[in-house]
Amino acid sequence: MIEKRVGITETLFRDAHQSLLATRLKLEDMLEITERIDRAGFHSLEVWGGATFDSCLRYLNEDPWERLRVLRKRLPKTKLQMLLRGQNLLGYHQYPDDVVDAFIEKSIENGIDIIRVFDALNDTRNLERSIQATKRAGGHCQAALVYTVSPIHNVEGYLSLAKELAQLGADSICIKDMAGLLRPAQVGPLVSGLKDAVDLPIQLHSHYTSGLASMTYWAGVKAGVDVIDTALSPLALGTSQPPTESLVAALEDTPYDSGIDLALLNEANKVMQRILESYKRPMIKVDTEVLVSQIPGGMLSNLRAQLEQQKMGDRYDEIVAEVPRVRRELGYPPLVTPMSQIVGVQALFNVITGSRYSIKSKEMKDYVKGLYGRPPGEIDEEVRRQVIDGEPMTSRPADSLEPLMGKGRAEVEEFIQQEEDVLTYILFPEIAKKFLAKRHDS
Ligand code: CO
Repeated sequence: MIEKRVGITETLFRDAHQSLLATRLKLEDMLEITERIDRAGFHSLEVWGGATFDSCLRYLNEDPWERLRVLRKRLPKTKLQMLLRGQNLLGYHQYPDDVVDAFIEKSIENGIDIIRVFDALNDTRNLERSIQATKRAGGHCQAALVYTVSPIHNVEGYLSLAKELAQLGADSICIKDMAGLLRPAQVGPLVSGLKDAVDLPIQLHSHYTSGLASMTYWAGVKAGVDVIDTALSPLALGTSQPPTESLVAALEDTPYDSGIDLALLNEANKVMQRILESYKRPMIKVDTEVLVSQIPGGMLSNLRAQLEQQKMGDRYDEIVAEVPRVRRELGYPPLVTPMSQIVGVQALFNVITGSRYSIKSKEMKDYVKGLYGRPPGEIDEEVRRQVIDGEPMTSRPADSLEPLMGKGRAEVEEFIQQEEDVLTYILFPEIAKKFLAKRHDS
């Protein structure tokens, strides 16, 4: 009966709690289910990267590297996966190549098997180095197409992007639909196009935000998707992934059977339900507004919180209208980290000052200068003149960055217990310094 196994990547330990619990799931709680998860038969388990690194240091007083080593030991049979923001690594701006090389080498040395890299602008110059470094360190490099909807994004564009990524050495391709905008009828042409364009496995990553993702997964699987990303049901749905158990059941006894043991998942589910009673979980709902506004759920809730802090909650609708306008003027960047923050903050400034682009963040200026890479479309001339003096740069941004490893090491020498500490410090200098000093004194 089985023609092709469809693999499943479980996201509970990374994207699912990043989406629903502000990335606060503690390692000790994960360990309650690792034994069952390891036996279930997943293609891989996403456990690291994204916002987890920052959150470990900032909120959980955990060494992210130690978390990775413990998970590696407790999940001996399952491939471990991480999400990396290309040249931005796990931070919010670009790092020089020596830091990219060292960070990736250490990630793999500490237990990562698969690195999914993406660039918010789909600028392949920002992915080259991380692809090379992953391959050199013996890892599997999955390169992501950041999926978005705009007048300048189309299937042909994504196919040529995938070809470029394959040429750069990617081992597989991921369709990264962070806002949950990919529709069931659209995934087929994209996936079959990709299957023709590149001879690589295709993985589908979506979010349930708009209520479409499970249908899109089914349509994607029928069109040839090799692996799908899901979350165990206690942390599924809403802005997270579709539920693992439901997808396993949907594929069971079809030509796409995942081979995963549903009974084991059910046990892990019960343990997780009990653990999550001590966490504040949001009400799970479908937000169909995203289908019109195209603003990811996480970004909307951040904007709402920022407005309420300013006691300007009544301006929410104006912001929701301003975001697409700013996005268009900036050349339609996909709204994913760090572009979602840059566009969101600018929309907020534009509305609350009443004078568009009179205030702009440093990151906004850097984007227009070209320090994040090449915008997908044209930046509006008028806006460019308002934001920066002179012409933007056109070379690969990281080419103008000085090496940082030596300098970073010298700055935290007294606190270093492992080479990884240097990387922690370079990525998040302020919080790392506090974290390392505290560990040193205890
Ligand atoms: Co995601």
